[in-house]
Amino acid sequence: MDDIIVARALHVLAVVIWIGGVAMATTVVIPAVRRGDLGTDRLKAFQAIEHRFVWQARAAVVIVGLTGLYMVWRLDLWDRFRAASFWWMHAMVLLWLLFAFVLFVAEPFILHRRFRRCATEQPGIAFAWLQRAHWVLLTLALITILGAVAGSHGLLFFR
Ligand code: HEM
Repeated sequence: MDDIIVARALHVLAVVIWIGGVAMATTVVIPAVRRGDLGTDRLKAFQAIEHRFVWQARAAVVIVGLTGLYMVWRLDLWDRFRAASFWWMHAMVLLWLLFAFVLFVAEPFILHRRFRRCATEQPGIAFAWLQRAHWVLLTLALITILGAVAGSHGLLFFR
């Protein structure tokens, strides 16, 4: 069973790096950029941080997905997806799909260009929107993490 322990450890490590970064961006970086604390060119300040973190987030998403699927396969947990009490299993997969879409499809092919244009023309609106979107993603991630830790350690949410 060592392989499952290793998969779980890597799964949690990658979640910490990924969602920890999202929390930092949401509660520290974006507010500081919005206030102009990192310079008057808000787009440049934001992109200097974002273009480094985005690769960490992409790598973490890949590791979380691979280790998660490995655990489902090895422990034969497929039945859980038919039970509402395992809502946190559905939440993990849905959150993963959402972030994978944002990081691998929407950001490089749509959002990057659109956000750049919007942030140049109307920076106030663009960064307010960016912060709201990050709060939504962070809230969903925190609910998922709470549910996954409690659920995988035996808490039955409803019978
Ligand atoms: C394809 C996506 C994913 C799959 C297939 C998956 C699968 C799993 C599995 C099978 C477990 C072990 C459950 C158990 O031992 O009963 C687990 C645990 C966990 N997962 Fe995921 N997961 C995925 C994505 C995520 C995401 C996106 C997050 C959070 C952002 C997450 C956070 C966690 C946490 C915190 C645990 C609990 C670890 C522990 O306390 O031991 N997972 N996941």
